[in-house]
Amino acid sequence: MLRLGIVKNSGDLFMLDPEDFRKHACIFGMTGSGKSTTLAIIAYEMQKSGIPSLILDRTGEFKNKFIKVPGVHYYLPGYNLNISPFKIWEEEAEEERIHRYLWLLEEFCRITWKESFSPLQTRLIAQSLERLIGRDDMDFSMLIEECRKIAKDELKIWFEAAEAIASRFSIFTVGKFRKAFNETSNSTISEVFQEGIHVIDLSNLEYDAPKNLFSLIIANLVMLKIKKNSFSRKLNLAFMIDEAHNIAGKEIKYSLMEKISMELRKYGLSLIIASPNPSEINPNILANSGVLIAHQMLSIEEAETIKKYSYPSSYFSTFEDVVCNLKTGEAFIRAPSRLEGEVVKIGVKEHSILTI
Ligand SMILES: Nc1ncnc2c1ncn2[C@@H]1O[C@H](COP(=O)(O)OP(=O)(O)OP(=O)(O)O)[C@@H](O)[C@H]1O
Ligand SMILES: [Mg+2]
Repeated sequence: MLRLGIVKNSGDLFMLDPEDFRKHACIFGMTGSGKSTTLAIIAYEMQKSGIPSLILDRTGEFKNKFIKVPGVHYYLPGYNLNISPFKIWEEEAEEERIHRYLWLLEEFCRITWKESFSPLQTRLIAQSLERLIGRDDMDFSMLIEECRKIAKDELKIWFEAAEAIASRFSIFTVGKFRKAFNETSNSTISEVFQEGIHVIDLSNLEYDAPKNLFSLIIANLVMLKIKKNSFSRKLNLAFMIDEAHNIAGKEIKYSLMEKISMELRKYGLSLIIASPNPSEINPNILANSGVLIAHQMLSIEEAETIKKYSYPSSYFSTFEDVVCNLKTGEAFIRAPSRLEGEVVKIGVKEHSILTI
């Protein structure tokens, strides 16, 4: 059982079965309300139950949270974890790979700029990928160069499309970004499925675009890897995404994160996301989450969204008041095994090493 804290009213220990998390979890709350600490506590408890956690740490805050926890594995894109988007799905047929790369790059544009490729851009990228697909050293510089080459002999409008593609991806052709997206450390990605807590520190990538692309690549690799397992009765991995609105926002329909939340439960994956506002998260992900952890909310409207997705028992007649007035580290928790919901002071004595 995972010890998450103490029930505020009764003083009882509040525990959840790892199975509760198989239905995924959402953690919400305003800045400083305790979301990342709660994620860290869940990862710590998962580790005690022998379940590995992989944390996408957008802001680099987990290194401090785990400073007193021995054996946590850290990965820094551009240094000890480099992953090329063009090295995924290598076992697939070329046509299938081109389709998947296009889909990945398109999703990256959709979440980063809320824009899809134009039909011409799609065609240019697809043609470039067709020419490059057999090459082992394929990277963004080559993709941009190939787009420009193809456009050169065509109408001016093609040239504009090639430049639009270049402007999206040129950041990945320089310095540490080039490195982060250039090679693939196959052994490292297998490592994260082994026991323990694994933190990918994305803060080093500085900007939203590389953070988003790296997150999407990792999510795709997780999906690929976990689907190679057969259906699993045991939880295999807790995949934790902090500041998740960046890649699981509500405006992106049929997104990868939505797919993960809908398809991977039966393979034993638990998706655990943390984000300030429920209204910003894809509603399908919210609706697919069995565990809902609401720290202090900034507004009544956000509290109402939480209420809509949970079933607080009648004693929470003033539910919105309750979640808007929680103290730091307190949260309302609803889970499949605790459907009525409880207000919990997150953390037991042993977790004090995580709350400094
Ligand atoms: N369960 C807890 N018990 C004790 N203190 C806590 C707890 N949760 C959070 N805190 C305190 O509040 C601080 C902020 O918490 P945390 O970093 O988890 O918030 P957050 O919601 O992730 O904030 P942000 O949105 O800024 O990332 C922590 O550094 C810690 O001092
Ligand atoms: Mg945080």
